[in-house]
Amino acid sequence: MTHYPETFETSRRLYERACKVMPGGNTRTTVYINPFPIYVTRGEGCRVWDVDGQVFYDCINNFTAMIHGYTQPEMNAAVTDQLALGTAFGAPTLSEIELAELLIERLPAMDQIRFANSGTEGVMMAIKAARAYTNRPKIVKIEGAYHGSYDFAEVSLDSSPSNWGDMPASTAYAKGTPEGVLNDVLVVPFNDVEALKAVFAAHGETIAGVLIDPMPNRAGLIPARKDYLEALVEIAHGAGALVIFDEVISFRLGYSGAQGLWGIRPDLTALGKIIGGGFPVGAVAGRADVMAVFDPSRGKPALPHGGTFTANPVTMRAGLAAMRALTPEAFAHLDALGEFLRNGVNAALEKVGLPGRCVGLGSLFKVHFTSGPITDYRSVYPGPVEKKRLDAFHKGLLNRGVLSASYGLFALSTPMTMEDAGNILQAIEDTLAEIAAAG
Ligand SMILES: Cc1ncc(COP(=O)(O)O)c(C=O)c1O
Repeated sequence: MTHYPETFETSRRLYERACKVMPGGNTRTTVYINPFPIYVTRGEGCRVWDVDGQVFYDCINNFTAMIHGYTQPEMNAAVTDQLALGTAFGAPTLSEIELAELLIERLPAMDQIRFANSGTEGVMMAIKAARAYTNRPKIVKIEGAYHGSYDFAEVSLDSSPSNWGDMPASTAYAKGTPEGVLNDVLVVPFNDVEALKAVFAAHGETIAGVLIDPMPNRAGLIPARKDYLEALVEIAHGAGALVIFDEVISFRLGYSGAQGLWGIRPDLTALGKIIGGGFPVGAVAGRADVMAVFDPSRGKPALPHGGTFTANPVTMRAGLAAMRALTPEAFAHLDALGEFLRNGVNAALEKVGLPGRCVGLGSLFKVHFTSGPITDYRSVYPGPVEKKRLDAFHKGLLNRGVLSASYGLFALSTPMTMEDAGNILQAIEDTLAEIAAAG
C-alpha cells in the first residue's frame, strides 16, 4: 500500500528541486499539497502513474478538464496529425469553425462563440462583454464561487466568518485588490431569491450582469434550484442586466451543459476545460446582439480582444475530437457512474456514523463532513473538525490508490467502468471507516 508521504520519495526530491526556482516550488496554487505535491509521469485511461511508480485512479482529471481521461485514441490522432501541419498560425484555420459549429449546435440559446486560452479568460471576456453591451460597470456574483484568476471574478472567493458580513460583504481574495474592484462586484448568497431582489433594488441601474455557475464547485458543488435560476433571469432582465452562466466546469454535466439540464437560456456562457480536449482553452458564447461587441468587421469593436494562441489548431482539433466523443450515451455512462458513487458514499457515511453528505450531479461529486442543511457556501464552510476530516479523507484515499482534490471534489471520466467505480467506492468506504474509528 502506498503511504503518503513515506512512499513518495522521488516526488519529495523533485519538490525540493522546484523550490529553488519557483516560489514555494509551485506554479499553480491548486495543485499544491502539504508538505509536497505528487509528481506524475503519465496517464492512461482513468489512471495516472507517479514518479515513484505508484498507480492511482484519477478522480481529479486535471480539475475536471480530462473528461476522457488520458491517451484517448481519437484525440491523440487529431493532435499528432495537426503537429505535422503546424501548431499555431497568425491566421484563422478551419478547425475553429468546426469546433464553434459543434458548440453552438449543442447550446440552443447561444448564437455565436469566441475562443480564448483559459476559462479565466472566457469568464473575463463574458464580464467585459456584459459591461460593453449594457454600458454599466457592476456585476453580481455568488459568495464563495470560483470563476478563475481575475480580480473581478475572485471577489468573496474565500470569505470567512471574520469578514463575510450580513449582506454579504465584497471581500478581497488577494492583497492589493483595488477598492474599485470591490465596489463593482456585488455579492449574494447562492439559491437566495430575496437577496438578489435586494441587490437589484439597491443597484439595478448600474448592474451589467449576474455571473452564476449553476453548481458552483468551491461554494459547495450544490446544484441550483430551477426556480432560483428562473427568478434570477427574470430579475436580471427586468433591470436590463445580462445573465452570464459560467459553464467552465458544468458543461460536463450534459450534452447541452447545465443550461440544457435546467432549461435556462442565459445571455452569455463562459466555457473552458473539456472543450479543449486536454489543451489550454476558454471561450465565451452568447446571443448574437451581445456578441456583436467583439465584431471587428465594421471598424473598432466595442470590445476588442486578441490572444496569440487563441483558437490554435491543436486545441481546436483536440477539442473537436473530445466533444464528438461526448455523445448522449457517454453522458449516460458518466451519470450512472456518478449516481452509483454518490449513493454509495452517502450509504457509507451513514454506515460508519459520520456526519456528512455527498452532493453533486452527473460526473461530479463532493463530500461535506457537516450534519446541517447544505444550501450555500456558508452552510458547508468547514470548521476545524471538518477540515481535519477532509484532510484525512484526501490522504486516506491517496494511500488507497485514489487521487481526489484536496478540498473533496471528485470528477469522473468516460474510460471508467462500473468495476472501477466499485473499486473507488471500496477505497472511500475503507477511508471513511478509518476516519470514524479515529473519532
Ligand atoms: C467554474 C470555473 N470557472 C472558471 C475557471 C477558470 O478556468 P481556467 O483554470 O482554465 O482559467 C475554473 C477553473 O477551475 C472554474 O472551475
